[in-house]
Amino acid sequence: MSASQLSTKHLLGIKYITKEDIQLIFETADNFKEVINRPIKKVPSLRDVTIANLFFENSTRTRISFELAEKRLSADVVNFSASSSSVKKGETLLDTVNNILSMKVDMVVMRHPAPGAPAFLAQHIDANIINAGDGTHEHPTQALLDAFSMREQLGDLKGKKIAIFGDILHSRVALSNIFCLKKLGAEVTVCGPPTLIPKHIGALGVNVSYNLKETLQWCDVANILRIQLERQDIKYIPSIREYTQYFGVNKRLLDSLNKKIVIMHPGPINRGVEISSDVADSEHSIILQQVENGVAVRMAILFLLAGKR
Ligand code: CP
Repeated sequence: MSASQLSTKHLLGIKYITKEDIQLIFETADNFKEVINRPIKKVPSLRDVTIANLFFENSTRTRISFELAEKRLSADVVNFSASSSSVKKGETLLDTVNNILSMKVDMVVMRHPAPGAPAFLAQHIDANIINAGDGTHEHPTQALLDAFSMREQLGDLKGKKIAIFGDILHSRVALSNIFCLKKLGAEVTVCGPPTLIPKHIGALGVNVSYNLKETLQWCDVANILRIQLERQDIKYIPSIREYTQYFGVNKRLLDSLNKKIVIMHPGPINRGVEISSDVADSEHSIILQQVENGVAVRMAILFLLAGKR
């Protein structure tokens, strides 16, 4: 049974929320999904709430999705991008945020390259903090929208077989997905080259595989991640071409499985590297449904956290 309110004032990571929190977010998102498919998509739930979107790192989907979610809930929204701010003149994170908060901001959505940056803020300021991705640590709203999208396809995720492919070592999406899926009772396998899988990841209760075809044959859902070259300070794979040869998911491979499979990707996609265009655009793929669900799931999170103010 889900709770009537969240157990937490912030969303810093899936590690810090309960299974009941996740179920409550999903049930609330079901309602908001219905709202955003109406001709009039706006509700007054967060009128008088001011939300700052602070992005210290690039984003397309997460930033637009949060802004749309906030506007659909009638919140007042301010957007901040580090590249065009006084951070460039040496201002610290805390000074930047305190200046923004002194303008009476109630909630902060933050993406930052440093793991733990949202948790640091939560210790110093009074506003609700939502982690929109912190370095290689967590990306909780992505994991929630991923699991919500899987639940739409498969129903209850307990016992369902979910595989996460690719650069697990550098992926905050992978870590948040693992925490979320394990809390919901799914079986999880991570698959990729040995150099891109953390040594002790089995301690999180996941299986490890280095064989793409065997893992695709095993799973109900394949969540395919990109190689995060921007986070790699040394070479982890001989070449992108070799990676694609061994770990790229293409239509010929999927057809050879002769089974139903759900293909997911958090984006941005590198077409022709980890996923071929004919798979990304195939009937198996729910990549754009993930993006659509992101707005409803983020509306649910904002609405529920506002209730904790
Ligand atoms: N999935 C995701 O976080 O995409 P963006 O980096 O575009 O926000």
